[in-house]
Amino acid sequence: MISPGYPAEMPFFVRGLAAAGARVIGLGDQPVDALPHLARDNLAAYWQIPSFGDEHGIVDDIIRRAGDIDIDGVESLWEPTMVLAARLREALGVAGMTVEQTIPFRDKEAMKRVLDDADIRTPRHRSTTTIAGVREAAVAIGFPIIVKPIAGAGSSDTYRVDDQAALEEVLPRLGNVPELSVEEFVDGEEFTFDTICANGAVLYENISWYRPRPLIARSLEWISPITLALRDPTVDHLAGGRAMGHAVLDALRFRDGFTHMEWYRTFDGEVVFGEIGARPPGARTVDVMNYTCDTDLYTRWAEAVVLGHFTQPVVRSYNAAAVMKRAQGQGPIRAIEGLGRLLSEFGDSVTSVDLLPIGAHRRDWRQTLLSDGWVMVRHPELASCIEIADRFASDLQIYAG
Ligand SMILES: Nc1ncnc2c1ncn2[C@@H]1O[C@H](COP(=O)(O)OP(=O)(O)OP(=O)(O)O)[C@@H](O)[C@H]1O
Ligand SMILES: [Mg+2]
Repeated sequence: MISPGYPAEMPFFVRGLAAAGARVIGLGDQPVDALPHLARDNLAAYWQIPSFGDEHGIVDDIIRRAGDIDIDGVESLWEPTMVLAARLREALGVAGMTVEQTIPFRDKEAMKRVLDDADIRTPRHRSTTTIAGVREAAVAIGFPIIVKPIAGAGSSDTYRVDDQAALEEVLPRLGNVPELSVEEFVDGEEFTFDTICANGAVLYENISWYRPRPLIARSLEWISPITLALRDPTVDHLAGGRAMGHAVLDALRFRDGFTHMEWYRTFDGEVVFGEIGARPPGARTVDVMNYTCDTDLYTRWAEAVVLGHFTQPVVRSYNAAAVMKRAQGQGPIRAIEGLGRLLSEFGDSVTSVDLLPIGAHRRDWRQTLLSDGWVMVRHPELASCIEIADRFASDLQIYAG
């Protein structure tokens, strides 16, 4: 298991692997003492490497350390180490995704090429390594456009550009990105399609609804972004997205593990592909998904990759949402207002509260999706879940400074 201690969800996956009966060797750049207890307690061994930078060096090192240990699988659930995992599989002769199969999950242009060939509706797109190339792509595609890094995550360096004048303003900011993807801007609502698969079969699927769209949530600091995992992903108006999700997995020949796809539904009902990763959604969204069905998807994932099946049924009983909160002002948190009132009104529907404590320095909202903390809620009825989540978005205030 690559990077068993980071990001924050990884120790839960490590515990899942151990619970599914695997003996887990951790491979990471953190000192063993820096690993969270949950990770350390569930590892049979830990191999520390100096950094994740030199993939070929790591592969040589791991081949040497593995010696005659019989390694059955290599897992990574973290975007930057997906290709390393594939290289290790190839070098160790282990089953699972190869480098060639992994690239379309990492490179947004290669991804869309495979999906275009399978007649899946992607935004019109071009890739380029030059500023002149961005200008040409803008003319070919037509405004409004989206300009983003080819291997981005966390919506960083992603820009909506409405006209030529705006493009000229954005261009100087793109200098540090080696390769860019230029896309038709697709207007509408934005959803996910998340799965756990084993042997090419979908064992679990989830649709979450972003409120508002991530690019808007990322542009306006006052917003409390909400991710809402829907109790019922089989409703009619999501059917197109679900069908597309299955078609995308087929086109990419995905077989085992977690996937996280994003897609758009335009206001006239057209379904358009966004992007897909061969990993779970981040920002604690797996917890939100867990709350929809009172299960432990960290362990269900491990069962899928170790055993090829789930040991328990997964039944969806709730809509569940995470509300990410951003403080007002800069510096240390000095006040949290409204929480008591909201908890007395909606406490039965609140599954977790994790806000920075008074005195803690607030985080940089542009750098972290988790912002200054979150509240998670759930309710069997969608309208109630939305109402409760919105109340935590609007009536819970955090002040810094
Ligand atoms: N073609 C498009 N049309 C409309 N909006 C887009 C388009 N491409 C990207 N966006 C917006 O920008 C956001 C970030 O884009 P994308 O998901 O491709 O990048 P990312 O950096 O991988 O993001 P993340 O890791 O947050 O999912 C999307 O969630 C969406 O709101
Ligand atoms: Mg995205």
